[in-house]
Amino acid sequence: MGSAGNYQATYARSVSDPVAFWGEAAQLVDWVEPPTSVLDDSNAPYYRWFRGGRLNTCFNAVDRHVDAGHGDRTALIYDSAVTDASRSLTYRELRDEVALFAGVLASLGVVAGDRVIIYMPMVPEAVIAMLATARLGAVHSVVFGGFAPHELAIRIDDATPTVVVSASCGIEGARVIEYKPMLDKALELAEHKPTATVILQRPQAHAELGAIDHDWVESMAAATPHDCVTVDATDPLYILYTSGTTGKPKGIVRDNGGHAVALTWSLPNIYGVNAGEVFWAASDVGWVVGHSYIVYAPLLAGATTVLYEGKPVGTPDAGAFWRVVAEHKVNALFTAPTAFRAIKKEDPAAELLTGYDISSLRTLFLAGERLDPETYHWASRHLGIPIVDNWWQTETGWPIAASPRGFDDLPIKPGSPSLPMPGYIVDVLDENGHLLEAGVDGNIAIRLPLPPGTLPTLWNDDQRYVDSYLSVFPGYYATGDGGNVDADGYVYVMGRTDDVINVAGHRLSTGSMEAVVATHPAVAECAVIGVADALKGQVPRAFVVLKSGVEIEPAVLQAEVVAAIRDQIGPVAALKSVVVVPALPKTRSGKILRRTMRGIADGRPEAPPSTIDDISVLDRIRPLLEQPGE
Ligand code: COA
Ligand code: AMP
Repeated sequence: MGSAGNYQATYARSVSDPVAFWGEAAQLVDWVEPPTSVLDDSNAPYYRWFRGGRLNTCFNAVDRHVDAGHGDRTALIYDSAVTDASRSLTYRELRDEVALFAGVLASLGVVAGDRVIIYMPMVPEAVIAMLATARLGAVHSVVFGGFAPHELAIRIDDATPTVVVSASCGIEGARVIEYKPMLDKALELAEHKPTATVILQRPQAHAELGAIDHDWVESMAAATPHDCVTVDATDPLYILYTSGTTGKPKGIVRDNGGHAVALTWSLPNIYGVNAGEVFWAASDVGWVVGHSYIVYAPLLAGATTVLYEGKPVGTPDAGAFWRVVAEHKVNALFTAPTAFRAIKKEDPAAELLTGYDISSLRTLFLAGERLDPETYHWASRHLGIPIVDNWWQTETGWPIAASPRGFDDLPIKPGSPSLPMPGYIVDVLDENGHLLEAGVDGNIAIRLPLPPGTLPTLWNDDQRYVDSYLSVFPGYYATGDGGNVDADGYVYVMGRTDDVINVAGHRLSTGSMEAVVATHPAVAECAVIGVADALKGQVPRAFVVLKSGVEIEPAVLQAEVVAAIRDQIGPVAALKSVVVVPALPKTRSGKILRRTMRGIADGRPEAPPSTIDDISVLDRIRPLLEQPGE
C-alpha cells in the first residue's frame, strides 16, 4: 500500500480478500497477543474483527511512541483562541499525565469494563481523560458540551458510569458557559448515580464542589501513575451517543482492536499524514470526528494533533483558522463545510489569508455534511490545494468514501466525496432493496460485513442495532443516507432519508425536538423538519397546530418553544423558528408527510403522494412552508 495510481488495486484487494487486507493492516498495531482470527463471522450479523487479539489502545496511541524513542515529539498542541492560551505536550508528557489521571480514576473505583462519562469543553484534560479511561480498559462516553442536562441524564442512565469527568465551564465566544450546574442538574434527573465526579476548575468560573466531587488538580497531586490494562480486541473502547429517528439516542459502540487497526491505517492512507506531521481536525471531542481525528488516529499514527478551542469566525476574526495553520505548521486540516461557509460569509475574498504563511498546508478535508459545490470551489480557489470531501458517520468511525491521499491522486468531482474506501461495498437500492442503475438516486447501503472500526452493535441493545440498520435491506447496513453512485463509481450523498437532520455539521433528531415541542400546553400537534440554510446547511423549523380555542401570540409561543428546546435538548439544536399552521398534511393512516413539507420548504416540491388524506391542507399551509426563516 502506498504508491500512486493504486486505488483500484488496493480497493479490489480489500473487498476480494478482506482477511488478507486487514490482517496485513493489523501489523500496524502493537498487540500483547496477536489475533487468532481476522474476521469472525460465526455469529453473523454480529461480525467481530481480530478475535483473540489482546491490546491496549492507550498504549498504542501514546506509550509505544515513547518506548520507540519519540518521547520528545509533540503529541498535542492546545490552541485556545477564546482564552488566548496555548500549550504543547510531548508524547512523554502526555503519557505521564494520562498515566496519572488513570491513577485518579482507579482510585475512584474505575476498573476495566466500567464506563466513564466525559462532559468537557475543548481542553487537553478532555483528551487526557479519554486516554486514561482507555488505559484502564474502561469505556468512555463523551457527551458534547452543547447538550442540556436532560440529554446528559439520558446518557448517564444508559451508560451507567462509575465516574463523570467535567469542568467548571466552557467558553463560547465571549460567553462563559458554566458546566457544573448543568452536570448537577443531570445527576439530579438521572436515576443512575455515579460514585464520583472529577472537576477541572478553569479560571473563568469556579465550580462549587459537593460530597462526590473531586478537584482535578488535587486528585492528580495525590495520584500514582497507572499502567495500561490489556483488553480483548473485541472489548468496547467507547460509546458515543448519536441521534436516531426517535428521541432516544443510539449508543454507538466502538471496539478496541478493529478501531486501532482502521484508524492507524487511515491517517497515512486516506489523510496522507505520517508520524511527526501535524494534523488538525477543527471539530469537538464530543463528535465522532473529534474522537477519531483529534484524538485517536493522529496519536495512533504518531503524528501531532491540534486541539483548537474556538470558532472559525469571531475569535477574533475570520482569519482564526489561517493563524492556527501558520503558527503550528499544520499539514492537513479537517473540518465541516459549514466552518468554511462561515469564513466565506465574513471574508468573501479571503483577504485575511494574505496575512499568514499557510504553505505547510497540503490538503483540506471536509466532512460531516454535504459539501456544496460553491463552498468547494471557494476553498479550492483561495487555498490552491486539494479539497477532499469525505463521507462517513458516527456509526462507521472513519470514511466510507473519500479520495485516499496516501496512495493515489484521483480526480475530484465537486459534489461527491469520491470513491468507497477499502472494505466498504457501497450500493444504491430502491425501497424494495433492488440495485439501482448508475446515477439513479436511492437508499445508500453498505454490504455486510462492515470493515474494522465500524460499530459492532449498540450499547446494551443488540436488537435495536439489527432493527435500525440491518433489517431494512437484508445483507446490508442501511446508512440512512440517500444519493447515487455514478458510472465511475463516485458516490453522491444528497441527504438523510430519515428524520435525522444536520445542523452546522451537528447531527440532530427532529423526533426528539417534536417530543419537546409537543409538551407546550398550547400545542395540539407538531412537525419539526430541517430546512435548507445558507450557513448551517440545515436548520430545524417547527410547524405547530394549536389546540382548539387556545389563543397565544405567535411571538410568545415561539419564545417559549425555543426556550423549552434549549432547556431540554440544548443550544446546539438551534431551533429558532416556530410557525403556526391550521393543519398538518397527513396520509390516510395519519402519518405526517414530513418529506413533502421539507420539499416545499426547500423549493423542491414534488407531486403529493397518492396516500394524502386531504390535498387542500397542503395548499393552505404552502405559503407558510415557503416563507423564509429567521
Ligand atoms: N458548549 C456549550 N454551548 C455550545 C457548545 C458547547 N460546546 N457548542 C455550541 N454551543 C452553543 C453555541 O454557543 C450556540 O448557542 P447560541 O444559540 O446561544 O448562540 C448554539 O450552541 C449553536 O452552536 P453552533 O451550531 O456551533 O452555531 P454557532 O452559530 O455558534 O457557530 C459555526 C456556527 C458554523 C461557526 C460553528 O458551528 C462551526 O464552526 N462549525 C463547524 C465545525 C464543527 O463543529 N463541526 C462538527 C462536526 S465535524
Ligand atoms: P455524524 O454521525 O454526526 O457524523 O453524521 C453523519 C451524517 O452526516 C451522514 O449520515 C450524512 O447524512 C452526513 N454527512 C457526513 N459527511 C458527509 C459528506 N461528506 N457528504 C454528505 N453528507 C455527509
